[in-house]
Amino acid sequence: MSPTLPASTPPDRPILRDAPTPARSAASARHILITGASGALGGALARARAKPCVALQLWGRDLGRLAATADACRAAGADVTVRSLDLADIGAMLAAIAEADAATPFDEALLVAGQGDTAAADARVEDAAQVARLVQVNFAGPAALAAALADRMAARGHGRIVLIGSAAAFHALPFAPAYAGSKAGLARFVDALRLAVRGSGVQVTLVSPGFIDWPGGGRPVPRALLMSLPTAVRRVLAAADRGQSHAIIPWPFAALRLIDRLLPAPWRDRLLLAFKPP
Ligand SMILES: NC(=O)c1ccc[n+]([C@@H]2O[C@H](COP(=O)([O-])OP(=O)(O)OC[C@H]3O[C@@H](n4cnc5c(N)ncnc54)[C@H](OP(=O)(O)O)[C@@H]3O)[C@@H](O)[C@H]2O)c1
Repeated sequence: MSPTLPASTPPDRPILRDAPTPARSAASARHILITGASGALGGALARARAKPCVALQLWGRDLGRLAATADACRAAGADVTVRSLDLADIGAMLAAIAEADAATPFDEALLVAGQGDTAAADARVEDAAQVARLVQVNFAGPAALAAALADRMAARGHGRIVLIGSAAAFHALPFAPAYAGSKAGLARFVDALRLAVRGSGVQVTLVSPGFIDWPGGGRPVPRALLMSLPTAVRRVLAAADRGQSHAIIPWPFAALRLIDRLLPAPWRDRLLLAFKPP
């Protein structure tokens, strides 16, 4: 069993919008699961959701960074539990979600955990082990977790699940087939899951970010393609609170998706082959 640490103390452009569901509003969400809470986006989302009368269950692998997020959330008044587990261990993860949700049902789940990787500079094709790992962590793990949660939430008649994909899902990136493919699989899964639970009171939202700027970091991409971490948090939560089915953020990535779809294939291929990872 994975180690569990008890709490010490108490304008992006919508692409699709779902019909309103009877899901509870975020303001009334009481028990919230956040995966990837040891990371940049998951940690910032946890801090944004932390307030009195909210219980957060924070998942990740790195207990040191999870503890730092947990401390900040407790300082904001939230009740916090952290759990270290590997999303690639799907059996352990499903057992953990069944146990946690049976103890205190989740109202909202922000499934943020994921890994980015590209082929080595001197490699024509990505390493096979890397392909398997990314598919497991970016697709199989979050999809299985979302399915388990959706089923339990639908039985109760309410709940909200937000999954973080990537704008890379909409482009055949030759230097990152596993990342693009795993996020593309997740995007299709989330869209289908959303339809599967329609009318059950469960809201399913996919947010597909482009580039998120790291605190103190900086990436060699045009500013229009870059989003600060606070902006990313605001837009993820706005998409969730509005009940959007899908948000691509920032908006230029929605335009790039359209261009990818509309360009004749040989032009599109040439563009993708010319693009170098930032
Ligand atoms: N940053 C960007 O520009 C960007 C752009 C588009 C999409 N995204 C997506 O946004 C999400 C968050 O990314 P981020 O920028 O916050 O990256 P990050 O700081 O590296 O955080 C990634 C999180 O995922 C967790 N994680 C990774 N592998 C895991 C595994 N096998 N089992 C359990 N947890 C695992 C990490 O946990 P540990 O650190 O504890 O291992 C960490 O909490 C990811 O899904 C990413 O694909 C990011």
